[in-house]
Amino acid sequence: VRTLKDLDPDLEDLFYDGGLRASKRNQWFFEVAWEVANKVGGIHTVIRTKAAVTVDELGDQYYMIGPYVEQFVRMEVEVCEPTHNDAMMKALQHMRQHGMKVVFGRWLIEGTPNVILFDIGSGACKLNEWKNELWESSHLGIPWEDKESNDAVVFGYLTVWFLSKFKENMSPEPCIVAHFHEWISGVGLFTCHTRRLGISTIFTTHATLLGRYLSAGSCDLYNNLHTFSLDKEAGNRGIYHRYCIERAAAHCADVFTTVSEITGLEAEHLLKRKADLILPNGLNVQKFAALHEFQNKHALAKEKINDFIRGHFYGHYDFDLDKTLYFFIAGRYEFSNKGADVFIEALARLNYMLKRCNLPPICTHNVLNDDVDPVLCAFRRCQLFNSHQDRVKVIFHPEFLNSTNPLFGLDYEEFVRGCHLGVFPSYYEPWGYTPAECTVMGIPSVTTNLSGFGCFMQQHIQDPQSYGIYIIDRHFKSVEDSVQQLAQCMFDFSHLSRRQRIIQRNRTERLSDLLDWKNLGIYYHKARNMALQRTHPELYGNSSEYPDGINKMPKPQSEPTSPSASRSSSPPPSLDDDEPDSEEEKQELSKIETETTSGRATPVNH
Ligand code: UDP
Ligand code: G6P
Ligand code: GLC
Repeated sequence: VRTLKDLDPDLEDLFYDGGLRASKRNQWFFEVAWEVANKVGGIHTVIRTKAAVTVDELGDQYYMIGPYVEQFVRMEVEVCEPTHNDAMMKALQHMRQHGMKVVFGRWLIEGTPNVILFDIGSGACKLNEWKNELWESSHLGIPWEDKESNDAVVFGYLTVWFLSKFKENMSPEPCIVAHFHEWISGVGLFTCHTRRLGISTIFTTHATLLGRYLSAGSCDLYNNLHTFSLDKEAGNRGIYHRYCIERAAAHCADVFTTVSEITGLEAEHLLKRKADLILPNGLNVQKFAALHEFQNKHALAKEKINDFIRGHFYGHYDFDLDKTLYFFIAGRYEFSNKGADVFIEALARLNYMLKRCNLPPICTHNVLNDDVDPVLCAFRRCQLFNSHQDRVKVIFHPEFLNSTNPLFGLDYEEFVRGCHLGVFPSYYEPWGYTPAECTVMGIPSVTTNLSGFGCFMQQHIQDPQSYGIYIIDRHFKSVEDSVQQLAQCMFDFSHLSRRQRIIQRNRTERLSDLLDWKNLGIYYHKARNMALQRTHPELYGNSSEYPDGINKMPKPQSEPTSPSASRSSSPPPSLDDDEPDSEEEKQELSKIETETTSGRATPVNH
């Protein structure tokens, strides 16, 4: 699809100059997040997958700052010293002389970005001093028992200590932009402000604390955004101090951003600041030499899942694996926010719809207090017991996947590739990487019009469903209606023939470019530019603006226009895989063959 080069032939060279421009202008960029070289989850995915394009653009003018987590550093970081940078060496030495443990290195991921990692434990001796300063400067009190908030204070002050020393040691005076992610790095941001360090700041929130809490408590968040008594709601949930950190960071930032329009709206109401920019999340899209490589990978990974299923259903293996479809949900255990409740309920309906008409376990682990576990309770309530007559069989794997796990022996990516449909009917989902990751692997998925990803795809694709992006309405419909819509959608999907699934996977994969950081990285660039312009109008007032770079994907050419919007666009069902293709299917397949040799579909301008 379109790249920066298509938009403007000079743009790409100008953009990806490895930090040449930034170095000439004495600009330095820091990205601060608790998830740098640490943890899993969506923010980690942002930081990790974005590294390559950011290093291409900024080279050694770019540094990530995070906490020091030993097991992660041992596996993924090459520890070294910033010998190329005297001011940075001095800043690190200064902190070390004061007893702080700071590790510098290269994170061994694509782009090998520079990382500066602070051992939070080594800063604990200064916790009270820093909490006092926080109280004096902002009247913000942190309860002693909230470990995460205490860590946030230490992380924030270590970051500020480092940045101020680095700036002090530089001559001539540099322009520094520090980009902070999520409330947990927020103390650093507003301390830059209260200490008047002269650092340009950006804050990105990936979810608001209150939004997450309120929606997990099953309140109708999006239809009541303007009605909440914010301090009271935060106080009732014991998160008032965290909420203050988040709100202060949002307001002190020179540029405030979030990851989707819908979370922008939420922030406007719950944090009382409108986002200056939306920074949609991208992925580091892996291109295979042969376009059909991802189809082969699907078949290979599916075979591994088949092996697991044969073992798991041993003695009850009374179904045909060749006619079995794998639908999955995955992610953090936020039962209703992530839509696991709606998924299970819809599976029960699907089971009923598919019946024409001792048991293998439904869980791979022994779950503590299984009588109150929300997933197991929902299976019981919906009577999804894997009985002989059930067409829908369920398996609950209550742990993130990794390849060393003896049960599956698959890492998450391989598992996704082996499945047929990702089902993510989230209620609260500022972005939602899980369906985006399915898309770049060519696996169709279900998302919702309350997820940042779902809204983004709706905005940029003419008919998302025809590309294997099914968007369930959870905004304007009751839970019952959403469940019914999802059940129908899975029912329709289960009637596609193998050929139709292959066609659809091809279409899904064609959307990858839309989600590539190579195209979405420009928004981060804009945020940095905006921060510099606001803090140094005399220097950057007239900086050029870059084009948005997002076009709208048309319907696939072979797709007939249809009067009904809802179920128009999946390849039409056929009951027998071995039946000859319909005329339309043949056309689609031959078109795909042509595309394989002659390049990719071109989007129309939006
Ligand atoms: N993930 C994973 N292993 C799993 C399930 C999920 O590594 O078994 C990752 C997934 O690849 C994705 C992230 O967890 O990058 C979840 O991000 P998302 O934005 O969907 O949700 P968040 O947890 O940030 O709310
Ligand atoms: C890929 C492979 C095909 C295989 C198909 C199975 O496309 O290249 O050889 O037949 O997957 O698709 P299914 O949707 O039935 O898992
Ligand atoms: C948050 C959100 C998730 C988003 C991720 C990255 O954790 O829950 O929806 O994808 O941040 O922005």
